[in-house]
Amino acid sequence: MPFVRKEGRLALQQAGQDIDILTLAQSESHPCYIYDGDDVLNRLKALKSSFDRPVSIHYAMKANHHPEILRRIAAAGYGVDTVSMGEVKKAMKCGFSADQVVLSGVGKTVAEIDFAIENQIKQINVESVPELQRIIHRSQALGKVASVAFRMNPDVDPKTHPYTSTGFRDNKFGMDQSFLPQLIRLVQDSQGAVRFMGLTNHIGSQIRYTDAFEEATEKTRRMLDHVLESGIPLSTFDIGGGLGIDYDQYDPNKDLAEIGDYGLKMSQALKGVDLEIMTEPGRVIVGRCGILVTEVQYVKETPYKNFLICDSGMHDLIRPALYRAHHRVEPLQLKSGETKIYDVVGPICESADVLGYDRRFEGVEQGDWLAVFDAGAYGAVMASSYNLHEPAKEIVFFDGKAY
Ligand SMILES: Cc1ncc(COP(=O)(O)O)c(C=O)c1O
Repeated sequence: MPFVRKEGRLALQQAGQDIDILTLAQSESHPCYIYDGDDVLNRLKALKSSFDRPVSIHYAMKANHHPEILRRIAAAGYGVDTVSMGEVKKAMKCGFSADQVVLSGVGKTVAEIDFAIENQIKQINVESVPELQRIIHRSQALGKVASVAFRMNPDVDPKTHPYTSTGFRDNKFGMDQSFLPQLIRLVQDSQGAVRFMGLTNHIGSQIRYTDAFEEATEKTRRMLDHVLESGIPLSTFDIGGGLGIDYDQYDPNKDLAEIGDYGLKMSQALKGVDLEIMTEPGRVIVGRCGILVTEVQYVKETPYKNFLICDSGMHDLIRPALYRAHHRVEPLQLKSGETKIYDVVGPICESADVLGYDRRFEGVEQGDWLAVFDAGAYGAVMASSYNLHEPAKEIVFFDGKAY
């Protein structure tokens, strides 16, 4: 269990000891991301065992690419999902072998495709006809075979934020099934330049409505059956990532039940599919495992609104500003005193620079430290240099030791 209260103070419990977060934050005296690495590995295990069949997990490193987290995930034998040459290079530097790397993304450049082909990565997930043409052309030029899967767009409503929906027919991601004959013809005419591995989909992120995964899997599976019936052998079916977490509250048992339910539903939807099943989870693995800690610089009370002005904000964690995403915000040390409602804001010159709207705090004062919860996914990786504040440091704990 990542972060717990011990006599009113937030602590990380690892290796039989309590790591006091306030002590750690005060010693750093700067905003920090603090990650529970052990929980990352526990959640990967939980996801793997939630399926009733073998499944190849390719962790979506875009969610959090702290090098020690990547090293541990690689050492535990999982694969990785990447979306740029930068991510492929970092993954391989951190111990993933090329045959554990999947490359997704709509805008792959020639340099990225060349790098993937030269290194013979496991699979390139193709997002358009011109991309497949480019891959074939580059494979022929390099004299090496590229392994490709087609990312299909199943036209499913994942009922998540529109900015994180990727499986609607009017999204830029994936391909409509009507392109399949053309794609297959290109493979067949490529004279062995590409190896057709299978189909994939990824319908979005922070998906809480899990029926959407079933619908997407069923629709993509029908496309897959169609390809197999035409006598083309395939080896993989990649069901993407996207499983969300409940940002409003945290109950570890409920989390595990939700992961279990997802695995069960997907296992049922995949019954009879005799291929390697791949997944690309990010948020559900690392989201819970991180907090962002920040110090209250000023308690600013006005006749209209009260603010806790902190030294961290949208430059470290953009999710609230970008999606109006909700993160629980609590003091590192609980206090008693007058209770008031505040907006928790940062130092950035934008009114969107908010970490939490209308939050209730008791006895809060200048110099107090706050934790922004569930900041392990799409936090530090989406940080910006806007206003040139020093970025939040990232500290990960494994087995009670900081990295
Ligand atoms: C292709 C692909 N796979 C996997 C993921 C991981 O999604 P999530 O972190 O929601 O599991 C993403 C992110 O949106 C993605 O674009």
